[in-house]
Amino acid sequence: MSTLEIRSLRKSFGGLLATADVSFSVPEHSLTALIGPNGAGKTTLFNLITNLFPVDSGTVTFDGTALGGLSSSAIAKLGVIRTFQTARVFPGMTVLENVLAGRHRLLPHGLAAQLAWLPSALRAERALANRALQLLDLVGLADQAQSPATQLPMGAQKLLEVIRALMAQPRLLLLDEPAAGLNDTETAELAALLRAIQACGVTIVVVEHNMSLVMGIADQIVVLEAGRLIAAGPPADIQRDPRVIAAYLGEEAA
Ligand SMILES: Nc1ncnc2c1ncn2[C@@H]1O[C@H](COP(=O)(O)OP(=O)(O)OP(=O)(O)O)[C@@H](O)[C@H]1O
Ligand SMILES: [Mg+2]
Repeated sequence: MSTLEIRSLRKSFGGLLATADVSFSVPEHSLTALIGPNGAGKTTLFNLITNLFPVDSGTVTFDGTALGGLSSSAIAKLGVIRTFQTARVFPGMTVLENVLAGRHRLLPHGLAAQLAWLPSALRAERALANRALQLLDLVGLADQAQSPATQLPMGAQKLLEVIRALMAQPRLLLLDEPAAGLNDTETAELAALLRAIQACGVTIVVVEHNMSLVMGIADQIVVLEAGRLIAAGPPADIQRDPRVIAAYLGEEAA
C-alpha cells in the first residue's frame, strides 16, 4: 500500500522547469531516498508536497487525501512533517525548548489547557519534556539540553531538527539533506536513528547526497535530473542504471 502518491507533478519558476511531470509512489513504512545533482528539483518537490508553493499541475495524495489546496499547517496536521535543507533552529531558545516547539501543534489548546498550574497540564508538559530528553539522548545531545540551540555546531543543529520533527509524531517524514555538515560519527548516528524511526512505523523520504548512507538505508531510490525523474527502484538497480551513473554517480566516480 502506498502512503504518498505523486502524479504528473509540474512546476516552473519563470522559464525554468523545476519539476517536469514527476510521478512516483512511496510505500507505507518504507524509506525512500531522493537523489540528484544540485538544482535537480529535490527541495522543490518537498515544497510542492507541503504546498509551500502551489503546483502548476499534477496531484499529491497522502493516505488517500489530496494535498493540493490544503495549507502547509493542515498538511502537517495530517502527519506530513518536513525539515529544511538549511537547519532552522529557533534563536533565543535552548536545545530542549527547540525540540518542544515541534510538539506544540498537538498540545490541547483552550484556556483551561493553558493554565499550567493544572496538575494534568503539568503532567503533560513533564511527559513531553521527558520524551524530548529521551530523543535528544538518542543523538547524544541530552547533556546540551539547556544550552542555547544556536551555539550547537551545524551538524548538531541538523540532528536537532530531525528530533524536533519527531516530536510532532509524523506519519510521513520529509528530510532535506539531514546529513549535510555531519561528521562520520554523526552520520552513523543519523543512519541508526532513521532506521529506528522507520521501525516505529513512520514512512520516510530523505534527500541525501551521501551515497554510502543512501545505499545503506533506502528501500527505494528516486533519481531526479533537471526536474525529471530518470530512475526509481531498489538501491542495487539504481547503482547499475546507466542513466544514473552518467547523470549523478559518474560525478562521484570521477
Ligand atoms: N522559489 C524559487 N524561485 C525561483 N527558482 C527556484 C525556486 N526554488 C527553486 N528554484 C529553482 O528550481 C531548480 C531546482 O531547485 P531545487 O532547490 O529544488 O534543487 P535541489 O535538487 O534541491 O538542489 P540542491 O541539491 O542544490 O539542494 C533550481 O534551478 C532552482 O534555482
Ligand atoms: Mg535542495
